[in-house]
Amino acid sequence: MTGIRLEHVTKRFKSDVAVDDVSLEVKDGEFMVILGPSGCGKTTSLRMIAGLEVQTSGHVYIGDMLVDDYEPRERNIAMVFQSYALYPHMRVAENIGFGLKVRHTPKAEIRERVWNVAVQLGIETTLNKRPSELSGGQRQRVALARAIVRKPEAFLLDEPLSNLDAKVRTNARIELKRIHRQLGETFVFVTHDQVEAMTLADRIAVMDRGHLLQCGTPHDVLTHPVNRFVGTFVGSPELVVLDGAIETRGSETAYVHGPIRVPVRAGAPAGPMTLGVRPWDISVERSPGEGRLAATVAGLERTGSHDQVFVEIPGVAGGAPVTLRALVRSYDFNIGDPVWVGIDGTRALFFDPEGALNDSLAAPSAGH
Ligand SMILES: Nc1ncnc2c1ncn2[C@@H]1O[C@H](COP(=O)(O)OP(=O)(O)OP(=O)(O)O)[C@@H](O)[C@H]1O
Ligand SMILES: [Mg+2]
Repeated sequence: MTGIRLEHVTKRFKSDVAVDDVSLEVKDGEFMVILGPSGCGKTTSLRMIAGLEVQTSGHVYIGDMLVDDYEPRERNIAMVFQSYALYPHMRVAENIGFGLKVRHTPKAEIRERVWNVAVQLGIETTLNKRPSELSGGQRQRVALARAIVRKPEAFLLDEPLSNLDAKVRTNARIELKRIHRQLGETFVFVTHDQVEAMTLADRIAVMDRGHLLQCGTPHDVLTHPVNRFVGTFVGSPELVVLDGAIETRGSETAYVHGPIRVPVRAGAPAGPMTLGVRPWDISVERSPGEGRLAATVAGLERTGSHDQVFVEIPGVAGGAPVTLRALVRSYDFNIGDPVWVGIDGTRALFFDPEGALNDSLAAPSAGH
């Protein structure tokens, strides 16, 4: 069991910067997810930890050891690839034990360790099969078993669930989390799927275009995204984002976008500002109330316990209407229903015109 540390790590491929000055500390036993869009440098980061790629500058530590000059095999870290890279001509047992065989582990010991890890992952009945005879979920477990059997100090997983269909994938996530808890080892898991990141991670490291933008718990990243990119990249359904402005009218300072007004801290400077609201922080009610705006249900997506309701708020003074996506507990709304919409200003996010989070605008909540 051991932590991993990247210190100002940069990787260039010719003139392209794939990873740009990334510093990241993965704690002992932590489940760290690196999340970001395609091409942002996730795989390159993992490959540098594994030693399969050498950084252009910066340092990699595994535990307290500086491993910049260590070969992959000397780092005692296991990597599970998206493709699983199982040997098609070998049976499952041979696939799992292959890494031990090349290290000249005695045959009896290999057999025992392979059996134990197969039982642990519930694939002991597949040991005599070939990879082509397995389901996607079973293949993933074989790939994991092959990593676990070597007793590495940490696991690196590069989108190992992306080949699975939706249902199997959910189970595989639960399974992976269970294995992590059982092993208590350090996991670094790469994905571009924010739902996967949210459900698996102890902490999420969000990357974009080679940069590490934010590292925090799923809750931190959801409630305090450092910028607009992180705010919209995490959270499902997606953050509602409205470009507007801070205005002062009489004694009230508010964020304004068409008919929408969200009170902010008195005396905040006027100027362009963007509002971000999670769809579940928008309330949709059947009756008027303080701060609620009259609207019409313009669209619906029923998802079981919750509905996504698209509400259209008429514009003011001939301005354009504003459509918002809200997530509400199923109320059986119908298209065309008159409703009243409220935005929870105490949970609103504000981004300045450059996209950075502005956390000095929130109005003190009532009663304080
Ligand atoms: N061997 C290489 N030679 C040249 N450029 C590379 C190489 N490997 C990666 N890159 C470039 O580095 C950048 C980051 O690639 P990387 O594979 O790390 O992205 P990723 O975040 O894993 O993306 P994906 O989600 O698509 O797997 C990309 O622009 C890619 O084209
Ligand atoms: Mg990748």
